[in-house]
Amino acid sequence: MQIFGAAEQRRADGRPVFNLAAGQPSTGAPAPVLQAASNALRTERIGYTSALGIAALRAAIAQHCRDWYGTSVEAEQVVVTTGSSGAFLLAFLAAFSVGDVVAMPRPGYPAYRNILASLGCEVREFDCRAEQGFSPDVAMLEALLAVEPRLAGLVIASPNNPTGSMVAGPELARIVAWCEQHGVRLVSDEIYHGVTYAGPAASAWQFGRQSLVVNSFSKYFSMTGWRLGWLLVPDALQDAVDRLAANYTICPPALSQLAGLAAFDAYPELDANVARYRENRSLLLTALPEIGLHRLAPADGAFYVYADVSNFTEDSMGWVRKVLADTGVALAPGLDFDTELGHRYARFSFAGDGTEIAAAVEILGRYLS
Ligand SMILES: Cc1ncc(COP(=O)(O)O)c(C=O)c1O
Repeated sequence: MQIFGAAEQRRADGRPVFNLAAGQPSTGAPAPVLQAASNALRTERIGYTSALGIAALRAAIAQHCRDWYGTSVEAEQVVVTTGSSGAFLLAFLAAFSVGDVVAMPRPGYPAYRNILASLGCEVREFDCRAEQGFSPDVAMLEALLAVEPRLAGLVIASPNNPTGSMVAGPELARIVAWCEQHGVRLVSDEIYHGVTYAGPAASAWQFGRQSLVVNSFSKYFSMTGWRLGWLLVPDALQDAVDRLAANYTICPPALSQLAGLAAFDAYPELDANVARYRENRSLLLTALPEIGLHRLAPADGAFYVYADVSNFTEDSMGWVRKVLADTGVALAPGLDFDTELGHRYARFSFAGDGTEIAAAVEILGRYLS
């Protein structure tokens, strides 16, 4: 966010910026959502809604899950949240207690670690790096359990941020079964579902009903600022989530919920966004090795290329600051995602405009050579 802020400041100063640091689509919400929002502003009161979300939206999300994953999901199992960030808070509070040990792969999305720590959980990061294909598996969990028998929870994301790596369906099935067998509560972050390039992503609920599934309107649905997400909740945690949701936020934003209902009429527009990401991805995967960045994470999903920049620096934070100051190209430092080896990595976002990305790589290439 600091680099993002510095890039925006530079833009405000009238200096050129090529922003590849953003973790969000450059597009706004799809047309049916904008239309529904405008209608709702005219015809609805925009008051509080039910704490778990309006019934029609919960039903629409359940239908979306049934359509995408071919598995049964009922509206009562869906909780609408203030983005997936709000869903994490509810999920972690409902599932874990102070002192619980919760594991997450490294590199991974930093907010898991920070939210869990703020709630008094003990976070155990385990290495899931280039040599391991950036993808967690049961062997890693076995190794972790051997040294940490108190393991209470596991948070994974597929596709992952920052690496774009995915857990294949059969491996996810094994992870789900392993967690159930060992009493480890799985929180599956599925926020990048729909933004995939090598086949669709599998959902944890295809293989069991003990996990908490987190999802959002932010990425595939291109609605970051609307702060809308959802949680699929196992029966045993329904009551806790219900009470927490009502007390923490009263309800998710009403206008966003009414508008979000129309997101499920927007698949063609949203798939066109993904087609654009796919082109940008090809551009980066071809161009980065040509400028000396050869070691890249898989980028099978999401909209990031996580690149080993250790040919150029051992301090990615200082490096991305300098690159921004010298060239206007904004990147995210790996240190955010991996406190141990992230100093050797930078994340390139390809959610933006293809021409800007191409220009950024050209400028960076000249700078590095
Ligand atoms: C893996 C992952 N999970 C969750 C989030 C939070 O998204 P939101 O709160 O907008 O749903 C992000 C945002 O970048 C993310 O990358």
